[in-house]
Amino acid sequence: MGNTIELAQIKLTEEEISAAMAVLRSGALRQGKVCDEFEKKFAEKVKAKFALTCSSGTAALHLAYMACLQPGDEVIVPAFTFIATASMVTMTGARPVFCDVDPQTWVMDLKDAESRITEKTKAIAPVHLFGNACDVAGVTKLAEKHNLYVIWDAAQAHGTISQGRDIGCLDDFVCYSFYPTKNMFTGEGGMVTTNNPDFAQKVKFLRTHGQTGKYYHTILGLNYRMTDVEAAIGLKQLDRLDDMLAARRRNGKMLSSGIRNIAGLVPQQVTEESDHSFHQFCMLVNPEEFGMDRDELGARLGKKGIATGVHYPRGLNQQPIFEQLYGQVSMPVTESLCDRILALPVHHGLDETACQRVVGEIKRIKA
Ligand SMILES: Cc1ncc(COP(=O)(O)O)c(C=O)c1O
Repeated sequence: MGNTIELAQIKLTEEEISAAMAVLRSGALRQGKVCDEFEKKFAEKVKAKFALTCSSGTAALHLAYMACLQPGDEVIVPAFTFIATASMVTMTGARPVFCDVDPQTWVMDLKDAESRITEKTKAIAPVHLFGNACDVAGVTKLAEKHNLYVIWDAAQAHGTISQGRDIGCLDDFVCYSFYPTKNMFTGEGGMVTTNNPDFAQKVKFLRTHGQTGKYYHTILGLNYRMTDVEAAIGLKQLDRLDDMLAARRRNGKMLSSGIRNIAGLVPQQVTEESDHSFHQFCMLVNPEEFGMDRDELGARLGKKGIATGVHYPRGLNQQPIFEQLYGQVSMPVTESLCDRILALPVHHGLDETACQRVVGEIKRIKA
């Protein structure tokens, strides 16, 4: 067995550690000038008018939802995503209404989404799942037709491109996570980008207890601030984001072409006119054709020192808390993906030899 190939590489560079140490030594630990600089550089990078740091991707979603929703509103959310996309809707007093995803690209199925719009629907929350861009033009058209806000969940999509543009510049809100496994990371951390000055102002107030003047509160908010320690790491990560993305994309393409001719394995289809950022490389394992199911394949790769993951084993429609709150609803595509999906390592720390080893082991296991 060669070296272990992990699913993520969570390692800071010496430069990132030094930047964090410099903030620690300065004693200016709270949200301050370094956060301001991180926001400025991040907004420039994605070409958004405003970027606001916050404490996590979950906080980013909560802030965006709080900035545009009222209790009783409905938000269309794909069932195949991480819980925060939907749970933060519930936390605002609004209701997530689940829709299914496309069987090939695994992002929001817009026909199904439209069929679930009611007079209460206020917003739509598409997720660029695993770094694969949603149908941005389709979502924008749907939102305009039904007068909906769009909250893009880009927790997994730093660097994802759609129709030549970074998805961070889209209206109304784009929400990022900097959790350590993500395309860029700060520890915990998040960012909201927007082009709307009123939304930017509102998010700023909401992340600091709705404080519009010193100890003066005109709306209710939370403490969702980032610290300058995390921002210092984030700034340095931004400098190497393009290199990390290039490695992910090279690895994603190698894995795709490596498994393409293996019967029973189907990778996520990249959406048209987009550049996938490969936060995850996931594939479907069809047991009849491949000869075993994804759990067995994952276990056998594990024995060879290759880590795999299951994102996600259960759709949000089938999470006990949502069944309890909103009743049972069937999402056939989501449910079928959950049964067959398997993630392979694709992170920026892997080289071509490692990717070849992953494909080679899969071929040997099948043979
Ligand atoms: C799609 C999606 N949305 C939101 C989040 C929440 O981000 P965080 O873990 O930073 O709160 C995640 C994190 O895994 C995610 O994958």
